[in-house]
Amino acid sequence: MTCVNGLQCRECGAEYETAPRSICEACFGPLEVTYDYDRLRRTFGREAVAGRGRSMWRYRELLPIDGDRILGQEVGYTPLVSAARLAGRLGVDELYVKNDAVNFPTLSFKDRVVSVALTKAREFGMTTVGCASTGNLANSVAAQGVRHGFDTCILVPEDLEAAKILGTTVYGARLVGVAGDYDQVNRLCSQIADRFGWGFVNVNLRPFYGEGSKTVGFEIAEQLGWKRPAHVVCCMAGGSLLTKIGKGFDELTRLGLIDEGTTRLHGAQPRGCNPIVAAVKDGSGEIRPVKARTIAKSLAIGNPADGYYAARAIRRSGGFAEDVTDAELVDGIRLLAETEGIFAETAGGVTVAAARKLIASGCIPRHEPIVLVITGNGLKTTDALVSTAAAHPIIEPRLDAFERVLSDAAVEAAFSKASDAPPPGSSLSTSSGRPAPAAPPSSGRPLT
Ligand SMILES: Cc1ncc(COP(=O)(O)O)c(C=O)c1O
Ligand SMILES: [Zn+2]
Repeated sequence: MTCVNGLQCRECGAEYETAPRSICEACFGPLEVTYDYDRLRRTFGREAVAGRGRSMWRYRELLPIDGDRILGQEVGYTPLVSAARLAGRLGVDELYVKNDAVNFPTLSFKDRVVSVALTKAREFGMTTVGCASTGNLANSVAAQGVRHGFDTCILVPEDLEAAKILGTTVYGARLVGVAGDYDQVNRLCSQIADRFGWGFVNVNLRPFYGEGSKTVGFEIAEQLGWKRPAHVVCCMAGGSLLTKIGKGFDELTRLGLIDEGTTRLHGAQPRGCNPIVAAVKDGSGEIRPVKARTIAKSLAIGNPADGYYAARAIRRSGGFAEDVTDAELVDGIRLLAETEGIFAETAGGVTVAAARKLIASGCIPRHEPIVLVITGNGLKTTDALVSTAAAHPIIEPRLDAFERVLSDAAVEAAFSKASDAPPPGSSLSTSSGRPAPAAPPSSGRPLT
């Protein structure tokens, strides 16, 4: 039994039947899924959710599906990690990491949006699905598309990380690299979707796809004991995820599942691709497209489809936005890894580094609960770290060789520095705990 009303234009309010379309015919505004909240209030509650499986589909009434056939039953319900060590380093009282770096099946939050879009594609009777992607979406459409028996057609900029390419082709999906940036890939995909009638998850299936991101907000609230956090920090590319996390909290409030109140949404982007941050900071909310130049390739969208709405959601919530350099994002990856044992991709490094700045500047008060949304896995973007990786000794397989390593003063000093956690709140900077590449011990050879 569905509670979906249909589609509505975010600009002029025109209403449409549920169909694979994303743009208003009257004003070219984006379409949004609407629900019958009165009915939802009667049929959907905390008890119903509590008895269900641990996946994002525990909130299925708030997702835009009409039937019972769900593709991706296992997706979502990732850990909300209480991050006391990172909190100490950032000098805040209460900090959590929403860890979508371990989402199923392809280790990013994109598994959520793809699960909804493919469920919808099947309902629409489509047999080929595809996407324009900066990498993670490609991985997820490939894995889930193949698993559920779709033909796939995935387009990406040609210069993506090797792991993101391999993490698409390994499933046997059809992948096409385009000699151009993401914005050019996206335009091409609109033409392909029109010409062939295929289901492009972030083009003609976009209104449904986007709804999957609300489940990040639902899960955070439920995992906090049905409470809103005071602050959420989230990285942005097209701006959809942050906007939908906000919509998720709003819907729970509307249904009486969490208290009224605000969650301040804070956006994070790399300095080399920061159109949404710029729009928030200059107060105009106007997105001026940029040419992306950053190692955070998953966030390299110069003309963000939901940028205007993300900037508006940030400002209306009382949040702010921050951009970070590539060096700062690498420090962010290390800081999260060294404190919480969570290896995030470049996008997660942007979130951590931006949070650090927002806390240092007082935009996020130190005593209020904060959630950092970590959206992707570091094993996909190791290229970003190799040039700064610490050397470690290689020894002969003998105890005396190991003892010589221990007695090597430089290595020992570096070792104790790495394992020394500074007292909570003592420092805003990442010590990074990174041993300076030490002089190789006499019996070993350095691995660089
Ligand atoms: C790991 C990761 N984080 C965040 C984002 C940003 O999501 P959105 O485009 O919804 O802003 C992306 C987008 O590709 C991503 O791959
Ligand atoms: Zn319209």
